[in-house]
Amino acid sequence: MGRRRLWNGEPVGANPFALPRGPLGVAAGWMLAVTNRRQQADVLAALAPGAYRSVLEVGCGPGVLLGLLASAPGVEEVAGIDPSQRMVSMSRRRNAAALRAGRLRVHPGSAGATGEPDAAFDLVVTVNTVAMWPSLDEGAAELHRVLRPGGRAAVSWHGASSRFALTGEEDATVLAALRRRFGAAERRDLGSAVLFEARR
Ligand SMILES: C[S@@+](CC[C@H](N)C(=O)[O-])C[C@H]1O[C@@H](n2cnc3c(N)ncnc32)[C@H](O)[C@@H]1O
Repeated sequence: MGRRRLWNGEPVGANPFALPRGPLGVAAGWMLAVTNRRQQADVLAALAPGAYRSVLEVGCGPGVLLGLLASAPGVEEVAGIDPSQRMVSMSRRRNAAALRAGRLRVHPGSAGATGEPDAAFDLVVTVNTVAMWPSLDEGAAELHRVLRPGGRAAVSWHGASSRFALTGEEDATVLAALRRRFGAAERRDLGSAVLFEARR
């Protein structure tokens, strides 16, 4: 991923972590499942997911956070989407029990086109995907569209100590895109991650 951001006009290219494909994509998925675990636990704790009945994760990757969400008390319905078919398959395998129990759905989709209906979710969360969105405005509009009135959008990215941390300018760009669509948005520092939040 490095410093490349699609919305800065710099292509993500063939980076297997940005869009896992082929055999390298499988290896990337396994690595993501290990390396992002701490951040996902911190994001989950910050979100207190029991307050939400229905949750969508955008760019679910190998499905670690999906599993945590599907087993969180109070959460009844979880959907995960990812543009990588490899990641969709990996998420489904990792969370086979939740899928069978009907608590989870996983299908192809992207931040700009989730394939989900209007006003369907209480919480939409995404971890380490925002730099890969081709358009921040389209992504923010889609998050807004699928949230119920009062629902919460939570966009997390690697924290300041990571080599993937956003620059100050990039940070402000993400916040500004959320504010344009939601009217207000805040940024929280979780240590392992930053969390941009907005309410519909
Ligand atoms: C660095 S991985 C993070 C995966 C997972 N969220 C995690 O925390 O481990 C980036 C993920 O974003 C997905 N992605 C790439 N472009 C995307 C887009 N436009 N919208 C949503 N997700 C995207 C990739 O397929 C990949 O699964």
